[in-house]
Amino acid sequence: MTKEPTNEEFWDERYGGHGHGHIWSGKPNAALVSEVSGLTPGTALDLGCGEGADAVWLARQGWKVTAVDVSGVAIGRAVEHAADAGVAEAVTFERRDLSESFPEGRFDLVTSQFLHSPAAPVSADILHAARDAVAPGGTLLVEGHAGPPPWAPDAHNFLPTAAEVVTVLDLDPAEWEVQRAVEHERLQTGPDGTVVTRLDCTVKARRKA
Ligand SMILES: C[S@@+](CC[C@H](N)C(=O)[O-])C[C@H]1O[C@@H](n2cnc3c(N)ncnc32)[C@H](O)[C@@H]1O
Repeated sequence: MTKEPTNEEFWDERYGGHGHGHIWSGKPNAALVSEVSGLTPGTALDLGCGEGADAVWLARQGWKVTAVDVSGVAIGRAVEHAADAGVAEAVTFERRDLSESFPEGRFDLVTSQFLHSPAAPVSADILHAARDAVAPGGTLLVEGHAGPPPWAPDAHNFLPTAAEVVTVLDLDPAEWEVQRAVEHERLQTGPDGTVVTRLDCTVKARRKA
C-alpha cells in the first residue's frame, strides 16, 4: 500500500517539484495589500508564508515579521527573497507545522493567506491559535478560497466561506469587532494555463484595545 505523504512532504514536493522555479508569483497577495495598507506597522505573524512575498511586502511597509511555513523548501526560498529585497533583518522565518506548534507571543497583525493543504486541512485549533495570537488593538486577517477550483471539484478539503470562518473563529463580540466577512471573485490561472474565476473570502477582525 502506498504511504500518504505527510503535510511537510507534500509541500516540499510541491515546491521542490518545480526545481529551482518559484510556484507563486513573488508578488504580495492583493487582499493583504488592500486590507493592511491603512494599518500602523507593528509586529506581524504570517501563517503559511510560502515563498515569502507577503512577508517581504510587510517588512517593506515597516512591519517586524515572523513568517512560518511547514515546507523547508518554501522557507529556503523565502529567506533568499527577503535577503534579495534587503529586508532580511525585519523578517524571522520559521519552518514549523502549525498543527503541532504555534509561535509564542502576540502580534499586531496575524495574517493567514490561503493557508490550505490537500494533505492536512487547516484545523479549527490553528484558527483559534491565530485568533489568540492577536494583541489588543491588533488585526486578524484570514484570506482563503471559499470553494474548490474547477480543475479539482472534488478536492475534499476545508475551504470555508467567510461566514464559516467567522463561526469557527468564535470571536467574543465583547472583545472583537468583525470588520469584514465577504466572498469576492478573483481570477486565477489553472494548471493548464486557463484563467478561471475563483471565489475567495476575506475575514478581517480587530481585537479591541
Ligand atoms: C496555498 S499555499 C499559500 C502560500 C502563501 N501564503 C501565498 O499566499 O502565496 C499554502 C501554504 O501553507 C503552508 N502550510 C500548509 N499547512 C501548513 C501547516 N500545518 N503549518 C504551516 N504551514 C502550512 C504550505 O506549505 C504552503 O506554503
